[in-house]
Amino acid sequence: MVDLSLEIPTYNEAESLPILVEKLENLDLDLEIIIIDDNSPDGTFEVATQLADKYGNIKTLKRPGKLGLASAISDGLKLTSGKYVAVMDADLQHPPETLLKMFDEARKGNDIIIASRYTNKGRTEKFGFLRRITSRGATFLTHALLRETRNVKDPMSGFFIFRRSILDGKAIESSGYKVLLELLVKSGDGAKVTEIPYVFGQRTLGKSKLTVGENVKFISLLLMLSNYRPVKFLAVGLTGVAVNEGLLFLLHTFTPLSLLLAGAISIESSILSNFFLNNLWTFRDRNLGGWVRGVIKYNLVALPGAIINLLTLLKLSAFTHYLIANIIGIILAFAVNYLGSELIVWGRGKGR
Ligand code: GDD
Ligand code: MN
Repeated sequence: MVDLSLEIPTYNEAESLPILVEKLENLDLDLEIIIIDDNSPDGTFEVATQLADKYGNIKTLKRPGKLGLASAISDGLKLTSGKYVAVMDADLQHPPETLLKMFDEARKGNDIIIASRYTNKGRTEKFGFLRRITSRGATFLTHALLRETRNVKDPMSGFFIFRRSILDGKAIESSGYKVLLELLVKSGDGAKVTEIPYVFGQRTLGKSKLTVGENVKFISLLLMLSNYRPVKFLAVGLTGVAVNEGLLFLLHTFTPLSLLLAGAISIESSILSNFFLNNLWTFRDRNLGGWVRGVIKYNLVALPGAIINLLTLLKLSAFTHYLIANIIGIILAFAVNYLGSELIVWGRGKGR
């Protein structure tokens, strides 16, 4: 059995692939290389076949057309035989030498080893402004939505090694670019994860395939991996509006209570019903750590959201229709409430 199986997905990388493979063959590693090509028009697959003839440790897989990076990794996985599997890009933006340091960490007993742009001396060589903020924004969203990624500085990395057994019985379901996220979530709390800094080089040959469409796939991947939590949270929030409005109507119509008191009771009732529904459904896989504390925390989390909602309404209504200003306020409050719930009220996993 080899030390390490390395998957290299390719689409139009005929120029860089031979240079990369040459460098990999010179590393002091017992390596098995799997090249997964999506019938690139530039003839990458022919290049891969020649390389496979030249070196004994290369397997190739040709798929009928461009089916996406994640599914290439998932299909390539079936051809791997090592205890550890690595994934790296073909375009030389991922330095082959880093693989040695990463594999050392695997030998030390880590389950997932990530080449990271955002730890220590890790960085990115000349990233466009837009790409830089999308990368940072995506990382922020990932940390907010996926608890399992919070200790990882570069969860968006496309260069990593994982112990094959962490996927035992589980399939890769991602359809976009970000297989690592799925590995982090599926390997669960017990997995040992570490990061090795590297410099993400500039692409000198060929073109990036990271398109706007990938960003849309990324958002749906985040939702899937988070068990659609923000969507559930939103649905619960809407039931809260119904409780609030309905109760206010009833109290105002059938009791002598003042509007202030009736309003306060309605608001608090909707906060409580939201809390119970979220605990039962949205965050049912999380540990609340006590009902009383949970209710108090949830109220405290709802408060800044309400204040932000109100301030936005007051400030923005000078520039736009008050109902539009209020909607923006509601969206901001939703984000604040969600983050507070995710991090403070239900911040812990089951049994921890
Ligand atoms: N087989 C196959 N099919 N390969 C593909 C496909 C596809 O549909 N799309 C892209 N690839 C291959 C490319 O040929 C390249 O080897 C690798 O996947 C990465 O594609 P790039 O287009 O070069 O991505 P990038 O440089 O913008 O971003 C990469 O690096 C980032 C930093 O590590 C990706 O790996 C990102 O996920 C990562 O965040
Ligand atoms: Mn690239």
